[in-house]
Amino acid sequence: MDWDEAYRKGEVFWDKGAPSPVMKQYLDRHPVRGRALVPGCGHAHEVVLAVGHGLDATGLDIAPTAIAEARALYPAIAGRLVVGDLFNPAPELRGAFDVVLEHTCMSGLPPALRASYRHGIDLTLRHGGLLIGVWYINPNLAPGEEGPPFPFHVPDLTALFADGYEIVADYVPDVAFKGREGRERLRVLRRK
Ligand SMILES: C[S@@+](CC[C@H](N)C(=O)[O-])C[C@H]1O[C@@H](n2cnc3c(N)ncnc32)[C@H](O)[C@@H]1O
Repeated sequence: MDWDEAYRKGEVFWDKGAPSPVMKQYLDRHPVRGRALVPGCGHAHEVVLAVGHGLDATGLDIAPTAIAEARALYPAIAGRLVVGDLFNPAPELRGAFDVVLEHTCMSGLPPALRASYRHGIDLTLRHGGLLIGVWYINPNLAPGEEGPPFPFHVPDLTALFADGYEIVADYVPDVAFKGREGRERLRVLRRK
């Protein structure tokens, strides 16, 4: 997947133009503080959300066009947005975060890259920190559908973080973007 090409062409079907209602509901209900990373932030809606909830947030995306567009969309947080690869983060991002906010970064990755995603979280989230995820659950592809998002089941999520993390919250949210009802799971994992 050429992510930058998708942004250059404006083919960003995943972008809802607003922060995740599930993430918003979680942050409204739980006072989370500290440095937060939003990997695969795209147009940075969740970075704005995080800053609005008192987090010292950084948005990271591999696609330079996504970051350029996000900076234009949200100039007030432009300095918080960086181009980079979660799988090989810059030294200043390593071990630097109390919180990682996951929203449709993992689900955009082919299954073969999920171990790299997990490694990227390990490299950036400090021990004791929280991985707060709105995990897109996509049990089956429709005929002819290729992904992203790729097939992903709750047991896949459990297996991906089986060692080194403990589940501290886990539920099917009662809010959603239109069309994603029942396809998301809020799971918070604490890095041991
Ligand atoms: C499905 S999009 C979701 C974007 C955003 N989270 C949203 O909800 O609109 C996945 C994003 O992950 C980014 N991405 C993919 N691989 C990445 C990597 N290795 N490091 C950082 N960002 C990555 C893509 O450029 C893309 O913006």
